Amino acid sequence: MTAFELAWRGGATEARLHRRRPGADELPWGTLDLSRYPDAHGLEARRIWSNGVFTEYASAAAFSALTTSMLQCGAPVDLVAMSADIVVDELFHVELSSRLTMELGGAVPLAFDLADIAPVTTPGVRPLMRAAEIAVTTSCVSESLSVPAMARSRALASDPLVRGVLARLLADEGPHARLGFWFLDWAIDELTDHERAALARIAVDTIAVYAPLWQDEPDCGTCPLPTGLGGHDAIGKAALKKAVEVHIAGPLARYGIELDRGTLAALT
Ligand SMILES: [Fe+2]
Ligand SMILES: [Fe+2]
Repeated sequence: MTAFELAWRGGATEARLHRRRPGADELPWGTLDLSRYPDAHGLEARRIWSNGVFTEYASAAAFSALTTSMLQCGAPVDLVAMSADIVVDELFHVELSSRLTMELGGAVPLAFDLADIAPVTTPGVRPLMRAAEIAVTTSCVSESLSVPAMARSRALASDPLVRGVLARLLADEGPHARLGFWFLDWAIDELTDHERAALARIAVDTIAVYAPLWQDEPDCGTCPLPTGLGGHDAIGKAALKKAVEVHIAGPLARYGIELDRGTLAALT
């Protein structure tokens, strides 16, 4: 297993990305003063942001796979274009998050084989169902949860650079969480009852993967979360639990994708 490590080319490719996604250079790079925070907060912030870089990278892979699946099932062209464009958003988020991680003192090593980065879908399903599975896991669930988590982190962030990066990321995440539902608007009549039931199970399984975000205590044991540097708190955890109902289970039910109430109650 190799450590997760990023490469950057610079030059024409960097210039192209920044023409498409302006604003990176206006952020207050070089102003982060770690001496204003307890050491434990700095270390926890490095861990949170290292993980954040990985999450953004994995999101780029997920929306890439969604784009390909949507092309394979003939989804509306403008909807596919949005998915492909979100891939570039996520790669820009990778850039911002990793630059911030460097300013926090560098990434915490993370062992991960990039060959496994693509989202896992049920073997043998047709392209329409494959696209629906990724739309539900990546957009309807993951992105719907990242919005309240980031919003609370930004509200608590006292450091101007951390606040600026979070604001830039958050501005993009709302539409990322919409795409999955817009795909379902188009696909739902084609999906069988069996497929809808399978999507409901997959959604619950994905929510279960994220449940530690609102169930766990921080790794540093009794230390407070580095709220000024990008962590969040009990209010953020409550917002995540609420999002499961308001932004995921409720909207999916309107498509006949009924999440198991008992399992959800146990998770939240
Ligand atoms: Fe992102
Ligand atoms: Fe996103």
